[in-house]
Amino acid sequence: MQNIIDGNKLASDIRSEIAAEVDMLKAEGKKVPHLAAVLVGNDGSSETYVANKIKDCSEVGFLSSLIRFDQNVDEALLLQKIDELNKDEEIDGFIVQLPLPDHISELKIIEAVNPLKDVDGFHPVNTGRMVLGLPGFLPATPYGILEILKRYRIETSGMYCVVIGRSNIVGRPLSILLSQKGYDATVTVVHTKTKAMAEITRKADILISAVGQPEFVKAEMVKEGAVVIDVGTTRIKFPDSKSGWKLVGDVDFKNVAPKCSFITPVPGGVGPMTRVALLLNTLKAAKGKSI
Ligand code: GUN
Repeated sequence: MQNIIDGNKLASDIRSEIAAEVDMLKAEGKKVPHLAAVLVGNDGSSETYVANKIKDCSEVGFLSSLIRFDQNVDEALLLQKIDELNKDEEIDGFIVQLPLPDHISELKIIEAVNPLKDVDGFHPVNTGRMVLGLPGFLPATPYGILEILKRYRIETSGMYCVVIGRSNIVGRPLSILLSQKGYDATVTVVHTKTKAMAEITRKADILISAVGQPEFVKAEMVKEGAVVIDVGTTRIKFPDSKSGWKLVGDVDFKNVAPKCSFITPVPGGVGPMTRVALLLNTLKAAKGKSI
């Protein structure tokens, strides 16, 4: 019998914990955490993501600032703003929402962020610290998934974990983290060039899919009793909804769920936990405890 993981409830519990910490900081006369978000252009998904980040901040009592630039902004101007944010003592952490327009180098922008304020955990210094098992900022989605595993007491030690996808922000960091001491899983990463993928995924005790393709994970790819974590967030047209679209994951949920011991739904699984992970990183930045 499968358990459907309630990411909304978990994230709401964590937000309450964070709000209580903010109250304590205030009572001690300390500074309230302050997140800044830089948004370039008007991409619909990015607008939604950033609006949600700002809303989450207000819900837990953080301060937030939104800094907007036109789609045609010069890279130099963006770098100058990052330099200002790096130096601004009022700002504890900040993010530059991705993707950026083609004329701007994402790597240059990411590398310009002070690693101590890099609450996205995208800077190579934070990636390197993660690989070495040193304290730093973890990228939000892997961090959120680790919190799901921890709070649902899902055993990872000695488990065979298969991660589908090798992106810099989800698949690769997650595969590294799960194999580290403390999590102690045996991890395989599969990707677009993997041969006989189903033979590998069918062996997984924990199967994590971060592909971005609806119904990619079919029932025959999943072992009976597996834990399935669905990171996919694809928007598909859905005229019956108010917005005209709906969010779907990578997993053929209807046919896969009956085989699972635990499964995350989309929406309401990993997504809310990714959002709350950014708040946890911002709190850590404000307390000066990232490194
Ligand atoms: N675009 C999609 N996901 C993310 C994220 O976690 N952080 C930033 N900065 N941009 C994104």
